[in-house]
Amino acid sequence: MIGLMGTFDDFASRLAGARHVVALAGAGVSADSGVPTFRDARSGLWAKYDPTELASPQAFARDPQRVTQWYDHRRQLALQCAPNGAHEALATLEHWLSEHGARFTLLTQNVDRLHQRAGSQCVHEMHGTLLRWRCSACGAEALETHPEPFAMHPPGCARCGGPRRPCVVWFGEMLPAEALRAADAAVADCDVFLSLGTSAVVYPVAGYIERALARPGTLAGEINPEPTPMSDGFDLVLRDRAAAAVPGLVQAAIERGGNGR
Ligand code: OAD
Repeated sequence: MIGLMGTFDDFASRLAGARHVVALAGAGVSADSGVPTFRDARSGLWAKYDPTELASPQAFARDPQRVTQWYDHRRQLALQCAPNGAHEALATLEHWLSEHGARFTLLTQNVDRLHQRAGSQCVHEMHGTLLRWRCSACGAEALETHPEPFAMHPPGCARCGGPRRPCVVWFGEMLPAEALRAADAAVADCDVFLSLGTSAVVYPVAGYIERALARPGTLAGEINPEPTPMSDGFDLVLRDRAAAAVPGLVQAAIERGGNGR
């Protein structure tokens, strides 16, 4: 683990004494659970399909069967995966901060619900979730956590028979208004910001990193094995996997905060 810019100890102390911590998670946080990242071409599935070509309303209109088969496959994969040490450490941090009168807000770009399964409470799903599906005709929504694939693709709506789609945000679509409002408020209030496992290139969410880095008095840390376009702006950069580095950082904060808060 290599810390750049600031020292790990200083950062852990500030994290322990924070008033409001905001963490922004990307696909790298779930990578250690076996969920492939978007720009990772190694996996067979991801090599075969370009996610950015399937993740649009136009693709769904053109080929609803192919698009929903792919999302149903990802839905089943997410259900088979388990939260890793990074998900668990973020849930631990939230719990510990709330016991000490501080706030924690998690903004996630991940659609797999692994944060919630690890016990995180204050989670805003900026890009929706794979585990809810919505009728494209009448808007009826349902939670879909069965391990087997849908009987047909696209799955039909129980109410009106219309074709259903995952409740994920596709390219060209608006992000959920409630999640945007929550993210705006949290980033405008935080004194520690963590950017975890995100390539920091997909907007509008990447804009929250810019805002946090520009906020006077907000300490910002990045955990990612690879540099991102935003790396230079952080106070602490840990070039490591999230599942390895997040538990270490959270543990260090809790140890330092035990007496200090
Ligand atoms: P990306 O696939 O763009 O980037 C994943 C990031 O995780 C990269 O910067 C990797 O270096 C890093 N990474 C890989 N393994 C890691 C590990 N074990 N620990 C920590 N970091 C690791 O994923 P996102 O930034 O989440 O949008 O992508 C943002 C959005 O682009 C996604 O939510 C999706 C996508 O297109 C929509 O579907 C709307």
